Amino acid sequence: MIFAAILAGGIGSRMGGTDTPKQFLTLGNKPVIIHTIEKFVINEDIDKTIVLTPKNFINHTNSLIEQYIGKNDDIIVIEGGQTRNDTLMNSIKYIEENFGIDDDSIILTHDSVRPFVTHRIIKDNIEAARRYGACDTVIPATDTIVESVNGTTIESIPVRDYYYQGQTPQSFNIKKLFNLINSLTEAEASILTDACKIFTLKDEDVYLVNGEVTNIKITYPYDLKLANTILEDKND
Ligand code: CTP
Repeated sequence: MIFAAILAGGIGSRMGGTDTPKQFLTLGNKPVIIHTIEKFVINEDIDKTIVLTPKNFINHTNSLIEQYIGKNDDIIVIEGGQTRNDTLMNSIKYIEENFGIDDDSIILTHDSVRPFVTHRIIKDNIEAARRYGACDTVIPATDTIVESVNGTTIESIPVRDYYYQGQTPQSFNIKKLFNLINSLTEAEASILTDACKIFTLKDEDVYLVNGEVTNIKITYPYDLKLANTILEDKND
């Protein structure tokens, strides 16, 4: 089976000034999270889309889905976790308990606040996760990358051609991810903030999928303005 996990368990503290997590703010004529969910739901290869939100937003999310998408048994809303990684783990636990994990099960994990993911990116993620077991969506770094450990002076300026900016989806063979997570020491587990890092830490290949500059993550208020501009542009 192919699963999508829409990670929406955050509170969006960097947006500031609102009690509503950014994934529930309006973009164009509907909430950001609805734009995002729709992209996965219409993909015929995806069997189940699991949406993970803070506990007190589960009912609200179900109401939004009913209002904008309609009743759909392939969309499941469950509780996220304390950290983004905990939220991801909750999705895997849910899949294990409710569907089982076979050798070919795949999960596409996606930030709820990246509403402009494209069908091409989703298709490429499915293909790469099937073929390689793990992939990350990236775009080449455009600014020069500067390394500074102390935040005052520069240690090094790496060759930009080797650097990329990570987006989502990040997609995995679930069994492989599950086994790697279980093999982590407590110290390793405590420093891991990114699922792809689990693979690289264990010397497992993570394949690169080309992202898009428009596949932005809404983090600050300015990003929501930018998202509205991108949306208008796409609707032209
Ligand atoms: N996320 C999640 N569970 C968490 C924290 C984050 O599912 N415990 C999700 C967010 O909802 C978001 C995505 O991960 O869709 C990317 O994270 P980020 O932009 O950092 O979101 P927030 O944690 O909500 O933002 P902030 O750091 O500003 O509070």
